[in-house]
Amino acid sequence: MARLCVNVDHVATVRQARRTVEPDPVWAAVQAELGGAIGITVHLREDRRHIQDRDVRLLRQTVRGKLNLELAAVEEMLKFALEVKPDQATLVPEKREEVTTEGGLDAAGQEDRLKEYVSRLLDGGRQVSLFIDPDANQISAAARLGADFIEINTAAYSEAKTPTELDKEFEAIRAAVLQARKEGLGVHAGHGLTYLNVSRVAALAEISELNIGHSIVSRSIFSGMEKAVRDMVALLEGASADNGPE
Ligand code: PXP
Repeated sequence: MARLCVNVDHVATVRQARRTVEPDPVWAAVQAELGGAIGITVHLREDRRHIQDRDVRLLRQTVRGKLNLELAAVEEMLKFALEVKPDQATLVPEKREEVTTEGGLDAAGQEDRLKEYVSRLLDGGRQVSLFIDPDANQISAAARLGADFIEINTAAYSEAKTPTELDKEFEAIRAAVLQARKEGLGVHAGHGLTYLNVSRVAALAEISELNIGHSIVSRSIFSGMEKAVRDMVALLEGASADNGPE
């Protein structure tokens, strides 16, 4: 069954809109864990547009479950990750001008450069995940790089405009999940998942974790974080129950 890691970046986005101290993503993380999240995800961007170094350091002390740090494959972030020691480091592509992460990491195209980067994280005791598109070459590259997990980018599925497109993108995810498991990788997924579109993906039994942020943070404004997370966890549990016993 897919368990939920809540991405609290956009709590920090609201705080940074005023460069003040509230709302605090550390507080949001406590509420998310009380609501049933098994982990907290944050993306420390090079431009520090939302999550700050201080947030990750505090979360390292307060998160009871898993702390997953998303980071670009650059030296500054590697040093930070090796110092702060999140349970998992997820490598993502990063462009300054993008509103959110656009597309998966080109693991196949940067294999030589990433090899050393991934090894240094693994040697530092971090679990490593690569955020990649549901693409056969990228999955094989992730396996060759020695990653523990891939996180399948669900953006194309989430943004599908027609039922045909949705089915096509879902099939791409399903095929990617099966290939990744065959190649010995653990499988996570996320990006753009909402209360409306999550169930189909969550029903894929081989996916062990979903990373969901924007939709949960949006709902939390009206219902509170704990309830917003509880509602999402119930959807994941329902999707798994529809699938029969594990
Ligand atoms: N996974 C990765 C690698 C991401 O970069 C993001 C967005 O920060 C997410 C998951 C969560 O996406 P969303 O906020 O759309 O749920």
